[in-house]
Amino acid sequence: MERYEKAFLAACAVILVIFLGALAYGSVAMGVHLPSRGGLIYCGVGEKLRKVLSKTPPFDHPGVQEIAPGKYRAVVIAKTWTFAPNEIDLPVGAEVRFVATSVDVIHGFFIVGTRVNVMLVPGEISQFDYRFTKPGEYLLICQEYCGELHQTMAGKVVVK
Ligand code: CUA
Repeated sequence: MERYEKAFLAACAVILVIFLGALAYGSVAMGVHLPSRGGLIYCGVGEKLRKVLSKTPPFDHPGVQEIAPGKYRAVVIAKTWTFAPNEIDLPVGAEVRFVATSVDVIHGFFIVGTRVNVMLVPGEISQFDYRFTKPGEYLLICQEYCGELHQTMAGKVVVK
């Protein structure tokens, strides 16, 4: 009986080490982590939030901007049922800081084939970094149910 207990404990220890290893690999080698909370723009929704956003940098000028050699900032505003901008063009190898928010309800921001997968909360800034190392057209979709045309809410990231 004691022999089985020892074997069971050993198996548990091995599984624990494998899980911790997977966690370390995911966070260090693959760079998977929680997106940082970039801050609050305005607590509220509707017309007031829309007005505040249109006057608050960088959301007064959504789009892609080169902020340093090889470094870009993509400012994105989600609203039912589009992303502004709808297409994000980047050169291969560019380091991008996404700064995004929503103007009405909670939307998602998921770039298929990458680890970019965050929620966009109205009035809150979602900020996250990514580096596109392979050229191609990446589908950008909203992965949070946001209303009757949720399934049409998509855009693309073109890397070349
Ligand atoms: Cu926006 Cu679903």
